[in-house]
Amino acid sequence: MFQDLNDICLLADKVKNRSILSLFTDTNRADKLSVTVGDIFLDYSKQNINDDELSALVQWAEHCHLSDTINDMFSGEKINETENRAVLHTALRAPDSLKHSVLKEKAQEVIDTENQMAEIVDNVCSGKLVSASGEKFTDVLAIGIGGSYYGIKVALTALKPYHSTGLNVHVLANVDGGAVDEKINLLPAETTLVVVISKTFTTQETLLNATAIKNWMLSASDNQDIIEKQWFAISTNINAVISFGISRQHILPMWDWVGGRFSLWSAVGLPLALAIGNQGFSQLKAGAGEMDEHFKSAPFEQNMPVLLALLGIWNRNGLAYSSLAILPYDHALRALPGYLQQTDMESNGKSVALSGEKLTWDTAPIVFGQEGTNGQHAFMQLMHQSDDIVPTDFIIALNGTSQLKAHHQVLVANCFAQSEALMQGKTLSQVKDELSAAGLSPADINNLAPHKTMKGNTPSNTLLLNSVTPQSFGALLALYEHKIFVQGALWQLNSFDQWGVELGKQLGNQVLKVMNGEHSDLLSTSSLALIAKFNQTRAC
Ligand code: F6P
Repeated sequence: MFQDLNDICLLADKVKNRSILSLFTDTNRADKLSVTVGDIFLDYSKQNINDDELSALVQWAEHCHLSDTINDMFSGEKINETENRAVLHTALRAPDSLKHSVLKEKAQEVIDTENQMAEIVDNVCSGKLVSASGEKFTDVLAIGIGGSYYGIKVALTALKPYHSTGLNVHVLANVDGGAVDEKINLLPAETTLVVVISKTFTTQETLLNATAIKNWMLSASDNQDIIEKQWFAISTNINAVISFGISRQHILPMWDWVGGRFSLWSAVGLPLALAIGNQGFSQLKAGAGEMDEHFKSAPFEQNMPVLLALLGIWNRNGLAYSSLAILPYDHALRALPGYLQQTDMESNGKSVALSGEKLTWDTAPIVFGQEGTNGQHAFMQLMHQSDDIVPTDFIIALNGTSQLKAHHQVLVANCFAQSEALMQGKTLSQVKDELSAAGLSPADINNLAPHKTMKGNTPSNTLLLNSVTPQSFGALLALYEHKIFVQGALWQLNSFDQWGVELGKQLGNQVLKVMNGEHSDLLSTSSLALIAKFNQTRAC
């Protein structure tokens, strides 16, 4: 009986040097180690795991009462214990009847907010809601950062072919004057609708950016009511939004039971809905809802998020691989690695258990990635030939959106070839045979062969989407949300807080104080010297 993670690690340790290719003597392997949910097919046969080891992982998950934890999340238990909050983003994409049964008296506010959002989208699109100058809106600027940015960014990018409203939707996140200038140079002040997204409405970057855009708009327009007419906000902090100057009627609520990085499904999705329309936004939520239903009810052996999570734990803890590459071979999915960096590492990059005890095992892998094939001409050299093994998720759409079908075929061929190459590798003797067949001298063969060997045995998953649609993309995001949640639960940590970001914020304030001539005991002489250099430059 596998009772704890150490049992799993001991089991994995025994097979660390096993060849993945050797597992394919089971001719049914590709068939068996795959699962389909709606429009998403997962092939995990290129993982270094066999049936018995998978069963052991499932057994361990059951022993950890994973089903109870899943039920706790869906039913609104306060599983975010360090913040004393429920975690109910799934309720936002559930049918109304389920919303009522889970959210109880809170359900109506959620439904009213959805209606308010849909009305804003309809009114902006129809021209019923116009700018301060009486013109139809042409552009939307969403200002927010972290969880109030990544979800919108990844969905706007993925669903570009579904931007159907005619509005150009832009995002501004980083506190960098260059990024603000870019928007100011691009956007027409008189016809741009602004949505400020900040759960707390205290985030330094968002407030600074919002203030800069507000000042620019006020100076660029003769209409002094431009902020009142053209600005919206999504926040829990209604008073702060009103003090900023945004009209009460233009504030849509957020709730403390929806975490920032899981908030796309709430009013935070307004900029996205303004791009893909209400129907597109509903389809996105329906796709996520379909994955929720599967996650809640499928046995663990066929449960896509649970399987992805268990395989990730097998690689991270059992085989001690410290990273995870996310490689979408689809231009539409190019923002996915950045999105998953936040969702995964901000959720599970922790070393303390819910109980407060120090964890004795590793947690979130270092997530990185890029769209294929670009990654092949960059970091994939390391994946093929360094001693580090980098487990990989390959993600493709079977049907590309472009009319250039030959491009799509080459793109997909590259994706399949990379997962094969990472698994197969090339041994020294294979390389020597090749070089000899090419007519090289024995001396040249000996010199060159070690440089051309590839370690292989790198595990990967391949996720195939029929095509990237609002529905399949919603399901894909929910798949990763749940995978991350399951991993956090099995690692016994809280995936829904992010205390690690606080120290940087505190010290940021100290740095600013010193830059402005005040004293701080909290900074090292290294940082004080850097600040002095910055101040000298500013003084010139
Ligand atoms: O990165 C830290 C964080 O607190 C995230 O959790 C959050 O999504 C982001 O900052 C922005 O916070 P807010 O929505 O309150 O502006």
